[in-house]
Amino acid sequence: MPFHHASRRPREFAARLASRVESTPLARTVLRAYLAGMPCGERFSDIGELLLGELFANAVQHGDAPPDRLVEIRFSVVADRLRLEVHDAGTGRPALQPPAHPESEHGRGLFLVNELAERWGCCPRAGGVGKFVWALIAPAPGSADLALGRAPKLVTA
Ligand SMILES: Nc1ncnc2c1ncn2[C@@H]1O[C@H](COP(=O)(O)OP(=O)(O)O)[C@@H](O)[C@H]1O
Ligand SMILES: [Mg+2]
Repeated sequence: MPFHHASRRPREFAARLASRVESTPLARTVLRAYLAGMPCGERFSDIGELLLGELFANAVQHGDAPPDRLVEIRFSVVADRLRLEVHDAGTGRPALQPPAHPESEHGRGLFLVNELAERWGCCPRAGGVGKFVWALIAPAPGSADLALGRAPKLVTA
């Protein structure tokens, strides 16, 4: 049987972070490290980090759980899709908002999730309080371009 070093990496990852805004960049950094160990994992990085940041920030901002409850993040790559989960112990549920007013500072996080994820949803936590929000992310096209530096879109005179 051929020996593939990358295939020895765990396919799933879980961690619990403090329910604080400062944990959001840490969650993104952990996802980047996880994807760096996956074959072609960088194809998920841009959208994955963006959406994980929105879901994590929501768990922190909108959660009504006691502050000592941790927020759990789970990642897996299965069938060429990245699955993200963000678990929190709060009672509220994500609610996709109508298009945000241009002057509004709020209500765009789930819009981005809805636009950029292949599918997403919210489920109660099995046998526990709270829920988790999940998103399934397809690989970005043109990963070869990414490796070489994406073709610039900016046109200058
Ligand atoms: N993890 C969560 N727990 C409870 N409510 C949530 C959660 N995530 C999202 N929501 C609800 O969905 C709404 C829309 O979320 P979002 O589009 O990210 O906008 P914003 O975070 O700017 O309010 C939030 O205002 C909140 O009411
Ligand atoms: Mg939000």
